[in-house]
Amino acid sequence: MLLPLSSHNVIQYLQDECLCSSEDGLLDASELPESGKKNLNLLVIAGNSKLLVKQKRSVERDGIPHEFFNEWLFHQLLQQFPVLGNLSAIAPLIQHFDEENSILVRNYLSEYVELGKFYRHQDIFPTEIATAIGATLAGLHRATFQRREYRDFMSAAPEGEFRYNFYNPAQGVGSISPEIFGMVPTDALKFYVLYQRYESLESAIADLAYEWQPCCLTHNDLKLSNILIHSRWNKLDNCLVRLIDWEACSWGDPAFDLGTLLASYLGIWLKSLVVDSSIELEESLHLAMTPLEVIQPSLLALIRAYLNAFPMILDYRSDFLVRVIQFAGLTLINQIQETIKCHKCFDNADIYMLQVAKNLLTIPEQSVMSIFGISESEIVSPVAKLHQLPQPEKEQQLVRLYYEKTRLRGC
Ligand SMILES: Nc1ncnc2c1ncn2[C@@H]1O[C@H](COP(=O)(O)OP(=O)(O)O)[C@@H](O)[C@H]1O
Ligand SMILES: [Mg+2]
Repeated sequence: MLLPLSSHNVIQYLQDECLCSSEDGLLDASELPESGKKNLNLLVIAGNSKLLVKQKRSVERDGIPHEFFNEWLFHQLLQQFPVLGNLSAIAPLIQHFDEENSILVRNYLSEYVELGKFYRHQDIFPTEIATAIGATLAGLHRATFQRREYRDFMSAAPEGEFRYNFYNPAQGVGSISPEIFGMVPTDALKFYVLYQRYESLESAIADLAYEWQPCCLTHNDLKLSNILIHSRWNKLDNCLVRLIDWEACSWGDPAFDLGTLLASYLGIWLKSLVVDSSIELEESLHLAMTPLEVIQPSLLALIRAYLNAFPMILDYRSDFLVRVIQFAGLTLINQIQETIKCHKCFDNADIYMLQVAKNLLTIPEQSVMSIFGISESEIVSPVAKLHQLPQPEKEQQLVRLYYEKTRLRGC
């Protein structure tokens, strides 16, 4: 990187690139509190317009490659194929990409709020919002589903690089070497011990990887902090949703996007458990600040809206819902690994999260019931009836998602 940006030099940079000028009126720049270790995020006010300037920090990340190039490529796809015009409404407009300095500039949407923050601050879970997200995501997947021209476009690689394959996100914990002892604290080693003990877990992830079928454009980082909703969502006819942070987007498996989103919702519940060695897990569930029942209507609204808007996916994969649940489990495991890496800890709450993740991955059919409160066929049948799709034949055998001794309120 040749030019490290800051709130002091960003305006000069934008002026040099002709993205703003002193004639715009008030010029102001500040660092967003949301700047993470991945990127530096600067908000620039230039008269009446606002720009978000992102610069990549040089950190190494495992897993899905996060590149501004991908976000830029998605933007180019929308420009190249005007027929995808509807999709441009779901992502903020990109103004500029500077590959050499790892800088991306896009419009800042001041009327929108980050969904994760909205849920945290308002502590309400209106189903209209989840419905809008489900329909929006289905719109992205459906519009690009099995379209070879879009797939070919998305296989472009940055200059001087090659893209042999699209990244398969169904990856378990990598092989564990003695170096791990120096990298993670003793408490966190328990995660690896438990993970290795559950053989069924590794084989479920291997199956998920084997059956991974990239068939449409996927966002690949669809957590609540990457979704914006209009601040007047409840006053507008259409609850407007925008998806941001397209750095990981590629040709992928739509079940992965829904699974990531589901895991992000489940995180609200799991992070609200009061877990302590002096408290029984059953009690923790009772003490949850946000019990699963509170977010369950949103989860159901999300999946129903998605399937209603994109019923063909059930034709393509009759086990779609099961794979969504499995990907949600995998995302929770990735989150635990991220926590261990960044915060060097693995506590009882994480052990519980691992248990839930394991159940989502290894007994997904039964987990559908626990997560959505109704069975797979109850979710799929109305869609199948409406769209005359073949219905799943499997009888549901209901097994608890939780530890045998625990009981979730309302179950
Ligand atoms: N176009 C936008 N309009 C409003 N807020 C935005 C916009 N883009 C990003 N933000 C805010 O900046 C934060 C970081 O943006 P994001 O693209 O997700 O970067 P990062 O890669 O650092 O996660 C988001 O969580 C959101 O709160
Ligand atoms: Mg983000």
